[in-house]
Amino acid sequence: MTFSHIVPVQIASAAVIAFGLLIPGSAAYALDDEAQIKLGESEYMSNCAACHGPHGMGDGPVAEVLSTKPSDLTQISKKFEGKFPREHIYAVVDGQKMINPHGDRLMPVWGPRYWSLAEQRAGEVPHDVDAAAMVHGRITALVRYLESIQAP
Ligand code: HEC
Repeated sequence: MTFSHIVPVQIASAAVIAFGLLIPGSAAYALDDEAQIKLGESEYMSNCAACHGPHGMGDGPVAEVLSTKPSDLTQISKKFEGKFPREHIYAVVDGQKMINPHGDRLMPVWGPRYWSLAEQRAGEVPHDVDAAAMVHGRITALVRYLESIQAP
């Protein structure tokens, strides 16, 4: 059911717009960020938790059958000397960047999958801009969520 993946985006942006009108200035920005993390979390739970585990620690149920253990996603900042590498992680999730150049990539690529969902939604009308914004929005929310679960 493809639309179930799309609806949270609309709800989240409707919430941001509604609250943004009521709360001026920096508070609106804070809520925007919070809404983005929430959206990223729901994307994570439906698409990533099976392998990476409910808390991102690489212990999802599918992990047992994989030859390479899914990464512990709470340790990314530690690996990068305390700074969460947003652009790098975006590229890894989207699939522009190979994780393991010398072997098979077990981690699925998400950019193309999100593109096809966005295009299905656009239907007969060409909606390139919307599709691009949707794909970018989902991956950005995921990256923001991952940043929010980093181990101290
Ligand atoms: C089929 C299992 C599977 C699913 C589903 C999955 N991953 Fe992965 N992921 C892996 C594996 C395995 C690795 C380790 C690298 C490799 O072998 O591909 C990995 C690596 C990663 C890395 C690199 C971490 C690092 O420290 O460099 C990130 C980031 C990541 N996954 C994010 C995600 C996100 C976000 C999702 C959901 C949109 C997701 N993964 C869904 C299996 C999965």
